[in-house]
Amino acid sequence: MVGLPARGKTYVARKIMRYLNWLGHKTRLFNVGNYRREHIGSLQAHAFFDPENPEGVRQRTQMALMALDDMVSWFKQGGEVAIYDATNSTHERRALIQERCERENVRVIFIESICDEATVEANVRATKLDSPDYVGIDPDLAVADFRARIEHYARVYEPVDESEGSYIKLIDVGRQVNVNRIHGYLASRLVSFLVNIHNVSRPIWLTRHGQAEYNVVGRIGGNTHLSALGTKYAHNLKQFYDERIAPAGEVEVWTSTLVRTHETASILGRQTLQWRALNEVEAGMCDGLTYPEIKERYPEEWRARSRDKLGYRYPQGESYMDVIQRVEPVVLELERQKRPILVISHQAVLRAIYGYLTGREPEQIPHLSIPLHTVLELTPNAYGFAEKRLPLGPELPPHSGPSS
Ligand code: F6P
Repeated sequence: MVGLPARGKTYVARKIMRYLNWLGHKTRLFNVGNYRREHIGSLQAHAFFDPENPEGVRQRTQMALMALDDMVSWFKQGGEVAIYDATNSTHERRALIQERCERENVRVIFIESICDEATVEANVRATKLDSPDYVGIDPDLAVADFRARIEHYARVYEPVDESEGSYIKLIDVGRQVNVNRIHGYLASRLVSFLVNIHNVSRPIWLTRHGQAEYNVVGRIGGNTHLSALGTKYAHNLKQFYDERIAPAGEVEVWTSTLVRTHETASILGRQTLQWRALNEVEAGMCDGLTYPEIKERYPEEWRARSRDKLGYRYPQGESYMDVIQRVEPVVLELERQKRPILVISHQAVLRAIYGYLTGREPEQIPHLSIPLHTVLELTPNAYGFAEKRLPLGPELPPHSGPSS
């Protein structure tokens, strides 16, 4: 990362980490500020960051090198992508990083964030006042000190230029994106991710369809209608929608193309966007069976799935990893949309989406709890989402629905 303080670097860095990890690429963040806080102490007044304070420069360089060393060792342990989160604001510092990475056969892409004043002001207030650097300090004094810190960096700041190799410049959080020498699959995915993200705060609601006929009898997959209880849920969702979702503004409602999500959404009485990518995991040969039936008819398959629920692919069907790849365009659209969104989908698919939004490791995704008749309300905060689980009822008997 490259950029003056309060340019949203950590926000972008964490988003990239979440996205790439979710896609199955081992990604880790190395935040030089955290090294400083840990080894030198958080409460440093702005003078510490003055480029003319030799002791400050020495200590900051030491922290930067320590983070770089850890990053290199992490690559040696099998890491695929490292995000080196610091200001990296001079040619000299970036050349040092380049050289070290070249020696280790690591490719570097600089991601530089440049923001207008309004965004900087919002970032300072949203993230810096709560930072451990300003615990117990009067907010106005903290802002003044942070502004002075920015000034120290601004005096020596040198934007990335073409001689420095691959870069992506984000101007005003995605208003403009400039790229230079970007090649290869992962780098291109990164660009398409970065052109879609923004920092407009809006809630996302996730829910499964109301209980469907197959849920009642414990069968997986299929394309059945809602049960009587499922229809009641759709009415409860409508009430929730009117009271809590609609007031949030112009809302998008997304469903899968399967009957049970349509029936749930139809009661809302409004237009929806149907995504095939939101259809439930394809159970192939096992579609329409109960879990005990699968266990009895295909014991090998059952064992294989219990061993590796993330990677296991149903014969003629899909795995959770397949589902993650399939919903990736939905996730990009979720990132791009600035409107509040209600997603009505299915258990496995919502595990994948919720896992992305809450930054879970892929291995956790197949085991996340996404109960029927419950809305998950995700409200953005500084670096992620605050979550509320809202059971709308009707309650379902504990034995209802299959469990794997
Ligand atoms: O049981 C409902 C359901 O949506 C099935 O259609 C699907 O196969 C299953 O959940 C996914 O959950 P799990 O991966 O835990 O079997």
